[in-house]
Amino acid sequence: MLRDLIIKNRSCRRFLESKKIEPGVLKDLIDLARLSPSGSNLQPLKYIISNEPTMNAKIFPHLGWAGYLTNWDGPGEGERPAAYILILGDTLIKKSFNCDHGIAAQSIMLGACEQGLRGCIIASINREKLRQDLNISGQYELLLILALGMPREKIALETVGKDGSIKYWRDKEGVHHVPKRKLEDIILSV
Ligand SMILES: Cc1cc2nc3c(=O)[nH]c(=O)nc-3n(C[C@H](O)[C@H](O)[C@H](O)COP(=O)(O)O)c2cc1C
Repeated sequence: MLRDLIIKNRSCRRFLESKKIEPGVLKDLIDLARLSPSGSNLQPLKYIISNEPTMNAKIFPHLGWAGYLTNWDGPGEGERPAAYILILGDTLIKKSFNCDHGIAAQSIMLGACEQGLRGCIIASINREKLRQDLNISGQYELLLILALGMPREKIALETVGKDGSIKYWRDKEGVHHVPKRKLEDIILSV
């Protein structure tokens, strides 16, 4: 069921780095994005795949991980993503990309989750440095990066507590807790 997949599809930030993801798998995930909705059907998104340690190592230093976990600098060696999909906007097709990249990202993440992979949508990117390191043309706006791999962490979905905090947190066992607002708190009546 879609609901089960969405519940399973938590943002994961620690992976079995050595468990390689083949290019064909990544291409199939991008195909899900290709088939997803696009404003005016302009389809301005382009993608870059990375699944090799050398290229992965060029991407990783430019990413910001889990801003609320102030004592954690992101995944260590051996638990970093095995692959990345970079989502780019082609400015020759369109100058702004509305929510196309969000929809594409979620299609890819759900497809990955269905296959037993997990990942994290990353918008905290040192875009200029990454552009230089990967030699990405100015024609493309760097929109989002999807970090992917076999999961190596436990994640607990919870309801926002009395303190009202939406900040995710980790317990002593390293379980990552994600508070979600209650349904009745997000549906407005007018
Ligand atoms: C548009 C967007 C940007 C995000 N950027 C980052 C990011 O830069 N770094 C990060 O660690 N997580 C990032 N996330 C993941 C969120 O922190 C995550 O979705 C949130 O904590 C809720 O957890 P859940 O995805 O398991 O529901 C991003 C998510 C979205 C949708």
